[in-house]
Amino acid sequence: MTIIGAPKEIVKDESRVAMTPQSAVDLQKLGFDCMIQSGAGKAARFSDKDYRDAGVTVAKTAAELWEKADVVAKVRPPQPAEAKKMRKDQTVISFVYPSDNKTLMANAAKAGSTMIAMDMVPRISRAQKMDALSSMANIAGYRAVIEAGNNFGRFFTGQVTAAGKVPPAKVLVIGAGVAGLAAIGTAQSLGAIVRAFDVRPEVAEQIESMGAEFLLLDFEESGSGDGGYAAPSSPEFREKQLELFAEQAKDVDIVITTALIPGRDAPILWTADMVAAMKPGSVIVDLAAERGGNCELTVKDEKIETKNGVTVVGYTDFPSRMATQSSNLYATNIRHMMTDLTPEKDGVIVHNMEDDVIRGATVAHAKKVTFPPPPPKIAAIAAAPKKEKVPELTPEQKRAAETAAFKAETKNQVTLIAVGAALLLAVGLVAPASFMQHFIVFVLSVFIGFQVIWNVSHSLHTPLMAVTNAISSIIILGAVMQIGSGSWLVIVLSALAVFMAGINIFGGFLVTRRMLAMFQKS
Ligand code: NAI
Repeated sequence: MTIIGAPKEIVKDESRVAMTPQSAVDLQKLGFDCMIQSGAGKAARFSDKDYRDAGVTVAKTAAELWEKADVVAKVRPPQPAEAKKMRKDQTVISFVYPSDNKTLMANAAKAGSTMIAMDMVPRISRAQKMDALSSMANIAGYRAVIEAGNNFGRFFTGQVTAAGKVPPAKVLVIGAGVAGLAAIGTAQSLGAIVRAFDVRPEVAEQIESMGAEFLLLDFEESGSGDGGYAAPSSPEFREKQLELFAEQAKDVDIVITTALIPGRDAPILWTADMVAAMKPGSVIVDLAAERGGNCELTVKDEKIETKNGVTVVGYTDFPSRMATQSSNLYATNIRHMMTDLTPEKDGVIVHNMEDDVIRGATVAHAKKVTFPPPPPKIAAIAAAPKKEKVPELTPEQKRAAETAAFKAETKNQVTLIAVGAALLLAVGLVAPASFMQHFIVFVLSVFIGFQVIWNVSHSLHTPLMAVTNAISSIIILGAVMQIGSGSWLVIVLSALAVFMAGINIFGGFLVTRRMLAMFQKS
């Protein structure tokens, strides 16, 4: 039977663990035997007993685990002492950060083991459940706000109390990727005024939908790159961006920076001058500290206070500071990766290098280093469709074009109305008066219905369906009144109308229920 094991992390202060009792239960359903090194879950509050109760074998030492496990699941990249234990036909799954760990990958290839980098899972919809970078960044974004609050001497939310008026805190989030959006949501829910900036214009909608303000830069450049990540900005763009931040520095109380392009050093976006311009008591949390930091004054892994009383937090272990939560999410990411690796759920690993996700994450396989992978065949989730560049018009040209379009549209509408009126008159000449009365109402309702529905955007058709119950009930009433008629044609038509309107009504209720459920807290 294939054994999957998780050793105790040996990097100092790392509290996470790659397997939890719950993930072990799920892994056993995939046909694996699970093993954990004694004490591996302690810092994340999972005891050896919890693991034993979940059917996991507890190995006494790391050496025993590395020797027996066919698959080793870890959080941090294997350290030199661990890399020595990698062996032939063993699969090692962990964060790898390939561009920084070339020797590690070469060693894995030499030893004949397969290495899967959880940080290389491509950002495509299908792989979201394995996207460990996102699940950790989500925690980091949340924790960054909590950490900022801990170092900030005021409330986030504005209050009017008997003791005086408290203004709300102003929070600026730079880089609205996964961590940034989590920070925006957390700061917003604590009642702060939140502003955010990102070089990728497509995130503006997400920022605004969370109730934050998107700081727009008046500059013609899209910062979107491949794979849902940003592209490096031009020096001119950066200059404009810094001008915008210098303005904000005087106003905001808390800055959370998350701006990064994978594999590159973090761009300096919050300069020493900006820190100097901030009010005493302000806080900067730099999530990009690992790669040099977005703030010029950040000291990696430390919290400093500047001369003017601004706290700069450069911790790089936010997920580890919430070890139970992050271990749960990370272990689930690993379990999903294992699900993809064992298609038959029989504990037999099929390493399919044709699969975009598996290929993307594999950095060493069959005695070769397989990094970097070819670009994924499927476009990344967040990439916006490229727009064709339209030549700029002068204001006069614009006005002339608008007048011409308006004239053409009016002409079309007048022609349509004239043709319609002529047809109505023609029918009126031959049809009886009672028919005409109903027919005009019918034509008008079709016309109004068409106009109303046609102008609603596609994304709103579902909620629209949920509120058209009133119309459906009118249809049902009309149909029920006619259904007793002697003519079989009328009976069939009314039955059909009842059926169709019924679908709309019951479907409407169902859709409404679903939509409401999305906003309910469980
Ligand atoms: P992400 O790639 O989803 O987001 C980064 C965002 O920054 C993107 O939206 C990108 O468009 C934006 N960006 C890039 N260059 C920019 C620039 N010059 N100006 C403005 N925006 C720019 O990354 P994710 O997953 O949200 O992670 C964000 C950061 O958090 C990374 O630096 C990551 O290493 C760090 N992180 C830190 C942790 C810690 O404990 N300190 C834990 C987890 C993540």
